[in-house]
Amino acid sequence: MSEVDSLKIRLEALQTEALAAFAAAGNLNDLQQLRVQYLGKRGALTEVLKGVGKLPPADRPVIGQHVNRTKAALATALEQSEAELAVKARAVRIEAERIDVTLSGRTAACGALHPVQQGLDEMTAIFSQMGFAVAEGPEIEDEFHNFDALNIPPEHPARAMHDTFFIKDSGDEPMLLRTHTSPVQIRAMKRFLSEAGEPPLAVVAPGRVYRCDYDVTHSPMFHQVEVFKVDHDVSMAHLKGVLRHFFSAYFEKNVPIRLRPHYFPFTEPSAEVDIGCVFCAGKGCRICKGSGWLEVLGSGMIHPNVLKSVGIDTGKFSGFAFGLGVERLVMLKQGIPDLRLFFENDVRFLRRMGVTK
Ligand code: PHE
Repeated sequence: MSEVDSLKIRLEALQTEALAAFAAAGNLNDLQQLRVQYLGKRGALTEVLKGVGKLPPADRPVIGQHVNRTKAALATALEQSEAELAVKARAVRIEAERIDVTLSGRTAACGALHPVQQGLDEMTAIFSQMGFAVAEGPEIEDEFHNFDALNIPPEHPARAMHDTFFIKDSGDEPMLLRTHTSPVQIRAMKRFLSEAGEPPLAVVAPGRVYRCDYDVTHSPMFHQVEVFKVDHDVSMAHLKGVLRHFFSAYFEKNVPIRLRPHYFPFTEPSAEVDIGCVFCAGKGCRICKGSGWLEVLGSGMIHPNVLKSVGIDTGKFSGFAFGLGVERLVMLKQGIPDLRLFFENDVRFLRRMGVTK
């Protein structure tokens, strides 16, 4: 076989091999390597070209043409494979990065105010808008503020009735968890008087209270809002007016109220306050036990002994006070049937009742 023929055959074999390799290349990287392998400076085609130099000059153009044709064929095939692989790579990427825009978004879980806190804030705001100043007192109290100053002397039966949690004291004086928010009356009156010297003073004091009691309607920790006002000529009429406004504002409708005579050591006269049943509008139902009324708070005119204990002149000033149970009012407003729901922290309940701020 002549040298020319053998070169031709080598070129053809090279082309067949290269085209097959290009077609089989799996990605653009492999293809790039194949380009170097066949068309590079030290590639297979260059190798064949070296043989051309050894041919007699007359044969060179023929073989030269063949080499050029092979080169062109390889370049075209490479380009085509490149284009095909680029399309394929793009399709793979699009598939991998596919997002379903019809899926609903993921929202971050958001905390909410506990319904009791929400009620406490709402109630405090109503009194605050009426001009009562917000005050707070300690939950760990001494016997003086929780009892003595409120006209409940040591031997008084009301002291036993309060189911007090006592705290093991390190000092001389026994401490306790306050059983009501009324001690804030004493603390706030003392503070206001030391600042202003004399009444008038009007205070709303929301907070936690504790009694050793636990059943369907009682929890050892619950919340009260204490409200009181001291001024010249304060009367039961003012008490009733404030209550009437408060209940209408809180329940967002006109709510009838009635005062029933009662007894508290720290008020005289004292009254328990009922509101017309918000479930049956006074007709009588299971919740109000057929009476048409619901008991919601204790109230009265501040006992002269209480005013005297902080040095207020009872000849010149008088005051009213009341303390309401927050859980009960929230239950009535929101239609919550069981007090324990507030404290179980079942997230389904909290989610339904909670209000995000
Ligand atoms: N402190 C009383 C209680 O917890 C409520 C109350 C407050 C009554 C103020 C009269 C005046 O039962």
